[in-house]
Amino acid sequence: MKLEDALPQLGQENLLSIQSYLLAEEDKHPHATGRFTWILSAISLATKYIAARCRRARIEDVLGAMGSENVQGEEQQKLDVIANETLLACLGKRAGLAIVASEENEEPLILSCDGQERPYIALFDPLDGSSNLDTCGGVGTIFSILHHDRRADPIENAVRQKGVNQIAAGYVLYGPSTVLVLTTGRGVQMFVLDPSIGSFLLVDADVRIPQANKSYSINEAYTNSFPEGYRKYLSWAHDNGYSSRYAGAMVADVHRILMKGGVFLYPPTEKAPNGKLRLMYEANPMAMIIEQAGGKAYSGTMRTMEVEPEALHQRTSVVLGSSDEVDIVLSNLA
Ligand code: AHG
Ligand code: MN
Ligand code: MN
Repeated sequence: MKLEDALPQLGQENLLSIQSYLLAEEDKHPHATGRFTWILSAISLATKYIAARCRRARIEDVLGAMGSENVQGEEQQKLDVIANETLLACLGKRAGLAIVASEENEEPLILSCDGQERPYIALFDPLDGSSNLDTCGGVGTIFSILHHDRRADPIENAVRQKGVNQIAAGYVLYGPSTVLVLTTGRGVQMFVLDPSIGSFLLVDADVRIPQANKSYSINEAYTNSFPEGYRKYLSWAHDNGYSSRYAGAMVADVHRILMKGGVFLYPPTEKAPNGKLRLMYEANPMAMIIEQAGGKAYSGTMRTMEVEPEALHQRTSVVLGSSDEVDIVLSNLA
């Protein structure tokens, strides 16, 4: 008897959890030690907890501002702090991690200096678009995993690596459903949290971004302060039947672009001449996902993942999305 024939009641029920997926992937690598899987499983646990706290935020009275600022001089929301502490708690105790670094902490957290036993670094934006929470809008978590270079001196410098060095990247969108999008450099996988069993279940093993879609996502209110090339692009798009969508949370905007196609832009502005978004834990992980799904990601006219980082919290401009749409933007920037 075949396995399928023995399951008449279950039919096509999806029971491939992220844990099973990661263990099956680990099995394909004979020398894998399990540490990498263990780190991703900490991210899965932390983001399930953050999803639950976001869902109950109004009930628990944790909406709104903390009354403090983070290292970027930006107002911290209460949930920025809760999400950050959750990720630090879950990742901080996992063997395999040498350093964790977060948008909310000025300095990277050194977990150990013995690079031999701890080959990885995790960087994250614990809560992206956090001010959207007050209005029940989409928010997210973004993460990037790098190899630890234990020759770095001082050790903090080990985090400053180009995006091309990422060995995994992903994000979790806390929306009407909680979606985890992951790449380990072999395509993009998408999981959705089934709250009734508390597991992320695989819903798409090979996500591909559409090649083109007449849609852009940008804070158009800043148009007058964008460099000329971006203004030229917008005026071309207005004349060519484009539509515009902007959630104000990078995770929500990029997820829509990944699913439907189009282009996401955060250009330099007078207020943020290098762009607003952070290279190492916003732009790079999103760039890896978009490229792995068949799209493109640029900072100005340079491929984002080739930018040499000078500082952990460095900002960058961003143009990413469908291959054809990014090409059109770039042709206006040249
Ligand atoms: P964060 O909440 O992590 O600081 O990120 C906010 C970012 C990003 O999510 C979004 O794309 C962008 O800020 C929106 O900025 P504007 O309000 O300037 O459009
Ligand atoms: Mn962010
Ligand atoms: Mn954030």
